[in-house]
Amino acid sequence: MMNRKLVAALVGFALASPAVTRAQDAPVEEQIVNQMNKVFGVHAGFRANHAKGVVAEGKFKASPEAAGLSKAVLFGAAEVPVTVRFSNSTGVPKLPDGSSDANPHGMAVKFHLPDGSDTDIVINSLRFFPVATSEEFRDLLAAIAQSPPDAAKPTKLEQFVSSHPTVPAASATVATPDSFANEAYFGINAFVFVNKAGERQAVRYQMIPEKVVHLDKAEAAKKTPDFLMEELPARLKQGPVTFRFKAQLAAAGDSTKDPSTPWPDDRKLVELGVLTIDKAVTNSDEAQKKLLFLPGQLTDGIEQSDDSMIDVRNGAYAISFSRRNP
Ligand code: HEM
Repeated sequence: MMNRKLVAALVGFALASPAVTRAQDAPVEEQIVNQMNKVFGVHAGFRANHAKGVVAEGKFKASPEAAGLSKAVLFGAAEVPVTVRFSNSTGVPKLPDGSSDANPHGMAVKFHLPDGSDTDIVINSLRFFPVATSEEFRDLLAAIAQSPPDAAKPTKLEQFVSSHPTVPAASATVATPDSFANEAYFGINAFVFVNKAGERQAVRYQMIPEKVVHLDKAEAAKKTPDFLMEELPARLKQGPVTFRFKAQLAAAGDSTKDPSTPWPDDRKLVELGVLTIDKAVTNSDEAQKKLLFLPGQLTDGIEQSDDSMIDVRNGAYAISFSRRNP
């Protein structure tokens, strides 16, 4: 569960600038949440992005290899309980699950550590981010907000896309899955593992299902509006769902700063362990309101990389949380 003090500190950090008086001077994390509210509308009690979701529970068991990379307690021998939230993209709580706007789908995992603290990962089905920086993400959202269906051509969005080829390239990597259990999710931002010997290794996360099943557009359009949200609890009644949690290891020279540039596919992958989801949460709608997953909520042995987007995400998620829990 999220600690209110931490949220207050993060929001305070994001908003603490005595010179801030005009909206365009607000910190980028606040500008982004404002743009999300503009594009998706404000829906009381819901997240500014990834508004529609479903919560489940399970456990994580580390592989023997994981401890060689990171001294983090979740990579020790003991199993740790987890809370998982799967979600649709956008801040629209009633978006049909089969809509292409619901891509990328999200997965957020809270590992409950033995000392009572949590560490989180917040990942989605994009292979890489559509833009390289938080400022460009704000500009992309602003371009979307300024491109309603009746906008003059070329629209602001068309102009933005034509000068940022990573936008269409990233969106070409996503599709609607037939189940949240049959999707692969990626960390996109780099983190740094530190092991007991003090050795440091930059990594990007991958959460790999038993199989990936994607629907084509026509199949996705035929699905009922809540098919993904309803399928997961139904599936869990039949048995658990497992994912292999993996770390892609950076090689010398790989950029850890730019989330729009994936590392080559031949980089070493280390299996960190198996995530087993075995129970839907019965009061999922209530539970998700109180949950806050933060990409920067880390534990000893896992550190942020030099990717400045992680701090911006921390600030933005806390601002969204404080708006949805006023
Ligand atoms: C500058 C970049 C980004 C910004 C500003 C941003 C902003 C946000 C915000 C405001 C929320 C709602 C948080 C809440 O109310 O709890 C959110 C949710 C989410 N974002 Fe991001 N995001 C960014 C990048 C990413 C990336 C790179 C990923 C995937 C690797 C991602 C995956 C998710 C997921 C899965 C959720 C739902 C979390 C949950 O279930 O509580 N986001 N994002």
